[in-house]
Amino acid sequence: MAAHLPRRLEGKVAIITGAASGIGEASAKLFSRYGSKVVIADIQDDLAQNVCKDLDPSSTTFVHCDVTKEEDLENVVNIVVDKYGKLDIMYNNAGIMGAVKSNILENEKSDFEKVISTNLVGTFLGIKQAARVMIPRGQGSIITTGSVCASIGGVCPHSYTSSKHGLLGLTRNAAINLGRYGIRVNCVSPYVIRTTSALDTLKKMGKEDSDVYSTLNGPTLTPYDVTEAAVFLASDESKYVNGQDFIIDGGFTIENPGLSMFK
Ligand SMILES: NC(=O)c1ccc[n+]([C@@H]2O[C@H](COP(=O)([O-])OP(=O)(O)OC[C@H]3O[C@@H](n4cnc5c(N)ncnc54)[C@H](O)[C@@H]3O)[C@@H](O)[C@H]2O)c1
Repeated sequence: MAAHLPRRLEGKVAIITGAASGIGEASAKLFSRYGSKVVIADIQDDLAQNVCKDLDPSSTTFVHCDVTKEEDLENVVNIVVDKYGKLDIMYNNAGIMGAVKSNILENEKSDFEKVISTNLVGTFLGIKQAARVMIPRGQGSIITTGSVCASIGGVCPHSYTSSKHGLLGLTRNAAINLGRYGIRVNCVSPYVIRTTSALDTLKKMGKEDSDVYSTLNGPTLTPYDVTEAAVFLASDESKYVNGQDFIIDGGFTIENPGLSMFK
């Protein structure tokens, strides 16, 4: 596969948070195959090391990083700049779902804060630390991982929906702020990817695989569909794209099925 892929990210240096599994892992693999140096920033050391083993060791590194800790993000950015002399791409992908309880009365403050801390504060810290080294160079691409829950309600728990709505607002604010310095900030927002954990979450919500609908018949969403969008936003192909939410949902969020005339 690698031999046939164009080198769309040749010469770039990327940090991907949450790249020990799922969308982040797929991103580490695809970014690497498109020619980027990749630094995996995650809390799951063993899984992250395994991802590195699958890739070219000369262009892939793992740095333990808890995105809720500013010093960890500062550290990974410093390591990258020491090693490669620059940071081109900061992909803030780490995220958690938190407890799956629909009734707000059953939601614990501690769980709500944990989800906000990882998904929103972690993204804020990632953007801030990346901006610190991108501003002097006057360039860079920062990507955040949103969700369909960044723009609509009712799909996921209160904490998760709040964190992703906040993340999208932060993405837009940062895009305006950092756009002045030539740095682009965009969001990639996936719909449900049918991983084991996603299907487990659906079950806890009283839903089944067959309840996952979109306006598009045929394809099934995979982590690589999300990653391809991130590659576009990371590359110079999107040099005039800033502050956007790239929703990858088969058209799920554009229809209100209750009133749809297309039955
Ligand atoms: N899978 C889906 O259906 C789906 C849909 C929409 C959005 N998303 C979003 O995509 C992103 C990736 O999710 P995924 O489905 O690949 O899940 P995943 O659980 O497979 O991967 C998440 C990764 O983030 C890491 N992580 C968690 N907390 C961290 C922390 N404090 N510091 C550093 N790393 C941490 C985990 O170790 C893991 O490797 C998340 O932001 C998630 O909200 C996922």
